[in-house]
Amino acid sequence: MTNFIILFLIIVNLFLIFLLNKKKIKAFFYKKKIRTTDLNELSDIFLNKQIGKNLFGPKEEVIVKNFCIDKENKIVGMTSDYEAWIISSLSKISNKIFEFGTCSGKTTYLMALNSPDDTKITTITLKPENLSTVEKQFLDNKISFRNIINESIYDRFLFSGTKYENKIDVIFQNSLSLDEKKFNNKFDLIFIDGGHTYSIVKNDSEKSFKMLRENGIILWHDFVPGKESAKNVVKYINNISSKKKIFHIKHTSLCYYRNKL
Ligand SMILES: C[S@@+](CC[C@H](N)C(=O)[O-])C[C@H]1O[C@@H](n2cnc3c(N)ncnc32)[C@H](O)[C@@H]1O
Repeated sequence: MTNFIILFLIIVNLFLIFLLNKKKIKAFFYKKKIRTTDLNELSDIFLNKQIGKNLFGPKEEVIVKNFCIDKENKIVGMTSDYEAWIISSLSKISNKIFEFGTCSGKTTYLMALNSPDDTKITTITLKPENLSTVEKQFLDNKISFRNIINESIYDRFLFSGTKYENKIDVIFQNSLSLDEKKFNNKFDLIFIDGGHTYSIVKNDSEKSFKMLRENGIILWHDFVPGKESAKNVVKYINNISSKKKIFHIKHTSLCYYRNKL
């Protein structure tokens, strides 16, 4: 009987350890399909300049306008500060930008704040009234589907009412029905951060490959192996990595593809 109780307790403990470290364990067993690169492989603007014998610092091109949002504001679906800085820096050298998934508009606002005055930013998103157009498909992760509903809550954005608003065109539409033909070969920078279900990531990515102009960059957010809500993003990117050269940027959840000249 004692042996049985000890065995039972060991099993319960192992199960608890697994539950508490599920993300780390999954990440440990994750088989890497795409290469992680240094940020400066994405663009020369990120190469540091030497300031002193033992001091390296940012070039002028990556000095950006920024703001942070306090956690108490409970804004959902945001990038990290480091990721926001990368996107802001790339915006400085982009004239046509497209974003899948506006949410609070934090990244859209940063793009508008940092891009040249004549840059146009198009961002597509859902508001609660549009949610009836979204259906869970066979391969779609349940948590990612639930997040679409939780994140489609805004119809005013952080940039609303600011002088930057006129650079931004918000499309309230399900990206599954977006007609990408009118946008073919148009964009310098595309940020894919809309629905994280397999069907939507696949749709947004396939459209982006057509919408990207030569030498343009696509960025995907939330490439986090082991994170349940990012499972479909990781799965899709891994699946197409044999056909498209996609890289993961070190210390971020961003992946990129460059439409090389
Ligand atoms: C993770 S949030 C985007 C965060 C935002 N890019 C940022 O950096 O602050 C996801 C957004 O994608 C939108 N979305 C989800 N599925 C969509 C779809 N099928 N079509 C258009 N927008 C979608 C949601 O409404 C939500 O605004």
